[in-house]
Amino acid sequence: MHRNIEEILITEEEIRKRVRELSQRISKDYKDRCVTFIGVLKGSFVFLSDILKNLTIDCNVDFIGLSSYEGTKSTGIVRTVLDLKENIQDKDVIIVEDIVDSGLTANYLIHNFRTRRPKSIRICTLLDKPAARKIYVPVKYKGFSIPNKFVVGYGLDYNENYRNLPYIGVLKKSAIKKEDLCQ
Ligand code: IMP
Repeated sequence: MHRNIEEILITEEEIRKRVRELSQRISKDYKDRCVTFIGVLKGSFVFLSDILKNLTIDCNVDFIGLSSYEGTKSTGIVRTVLDLKENIQDKDVIIVEDIVDSGLTANYLIHNFRTRRPKSIRICTLLDKPAARKIYVPVKYKGFSIPNKFVVGYGLDYNENYRNLPYIGVLKKSAIKKEDLCQ
């Protein structure tokens, strides 16, 4: 275990099993269709790549880059820093997130993408923190519900670190900058 991790919440094996199940569900739900997966950068890239490897349907992939976090805190303002390359009009879209926390990001994306008139939009997230929700988000595919703690690994970061950990872990308080701990 990494020296700055307090506790492993979800093991590599648990993630592997759950991601396979989600891929199978999506493949079944969209049988004989082509899905456009939109990965929300950067946190979703590991999850999205594992989802794709287990799919048995055709798909396209695109990415959108958003920013709302500084350290362990959301600024509450979501900004697009990299837009889609593809046109999603009349496409079956699945937005892939690492985690739905306040729900502001997912809500922003749904409203933003609706204006581009896709055939359908659903949300797939590896993690869900229901206790932190500020706005309702219709999550269709969910990996795990977790407590309201700041987690890293499997694509999720703290100030760009820890994305490479193969598990989901809770960061030690001593590894979080002092100013982030003052509330
Ligand atoms: P929301 O807009 O509050 O739902 O937050 C969504 C984004 O915040 C996620 O895509 C993550 O990038 C980031 N985030 C929220 N909680 C965590 C966490 O516990 N660890 C790392 N990133 C997080």
